[in-house]
Amino acid sequence: MTTLSALFPGVSRLLPLAALVATLHAAEPMTSIRSGEVWADTEGKPVNAHGGGMLFHEGTYYWYGEIKQGKTYLPEVNKSWGGTRVDVTGVSCYSSTDLLKWKNEGNVLPAAKDDPASDLHPGKVLERPKVIYNAKTKKFVMWFHADSLDYAAASCGVAVSDTPGGPFKYLGSFRPNQGVWPVNVTEADKKDPKAPLVRDFERGQMARDLTVFVDDDGKGYLFAASEDNATMHISELTDDYLKTTGKYVRVFPGRLMEAPAVFKRAGKYYLIASGCTAWAPNAARSAVADSIWGPWKELGNPCQGDKADITFQSQGTYVLPVGGKQEKFIFMADRWNKDDLPDSRYVWLPVSFEGEKPVLRWMGGWSPR
Ligand code: DGJ
Repeated sequence: MTTLSALFPGVSRLLPLAALVATLHAAEPMTSIRSGEVWADTEGKPVNAHGGGMLFHEGTYYWYGEIKQGKTYLPEVNKSWGGTRVDVTGVSCYSSTDLLKWKNEGNVLPAAKDDPASDLHPGKVLERPKVIYNAKTKKFVMWFHADSLDYAAASCGVAVSDTPGGPFKYLGSFRPNQGVWPVNVTEADKKDPKAPLVRDFERGQMARDLTVFVDDDGKGYLFAASEDNATMHISELTDDYLKTTGKYVRVFPGRLMEAPAVFKRAGKYYLIASGCTAWAPNAARSAVADSIWGPWKELGNPCQGDKADITFQSQGTYVLPVGGKQEKFIFMADRWNKDDLPDSRYVWLPVSFEGEKPVLRWMGGWSPR
């Protein structure tokens, strides 16, 4: 058998095996979706768009994601829960018309290297960017999880652009729903001063893993892991999508859901989310509702088959309605490598349905169209 070191005698001694394999694969153009492999862009470089989201605009897909670059390390402040990180570099954007050939449009929201006070400073946290188009203002609006190194700020960051390929102008971060109660609050909820909902009433509710969703009527919504990740909040966005209106609902109380991905099919709203285990994969959850305000009904783990209990070793990030239509959907997920975050991979799977339940099965190599 020919070994890698026989083929590349000098190089393989210098590079770790995984990096060498990644380098070799990266040159190959994508002809099918091969989850877990290195995906090359049109220049042959690995696509770097993690925790990402997709916008379909005028026939083109725009894939935005975290640029995971540089050293992976465990900050002192994250040691209690093992949260490794890379410094913030910015948000990438790739464009494609076939979901296979991805052109790098560049870093559309670069880090603010020289401003330690900025949310975009390399020492902060910028995760799960999602971009939506506002037909009224004709602006492209990016929402992301903006946080401090210890994840205590738990805020939303918002940026805006005139074009999908950026550059995006950063508008700042905030905690949503400051000084307002959710529409489904109970008198008992309001009375417990230790409850995060009450604790955060004045300051604004926490927002960690998040996504944004635009309904058929043009209304926008924010789904965010709130209350120390225990409970999800769904908040209505203002007409310009730049803020929340103050109308919000608490859903899945105490269920510790992260990585929300929302889509609509046949008039129903669907959520696929993960559990809360840092970078380690866990079993996904799914839920359905007739109204975005609920009630939401949990439908269980959408994954079936080998490794269904760990979402095929991945964590969801977005569900893409192919071609902008509510017919075919792709579940997009990250296979995080907590020890080498830039070498995290992508897992994309078609969503099928059994009755109203979304189902995900492993697919080894498939055409996305
Ligand atoms: C899980 C979240 O889904 C990710 O976005 C990231 O915040 C990691 N936790 C950090 O451990």
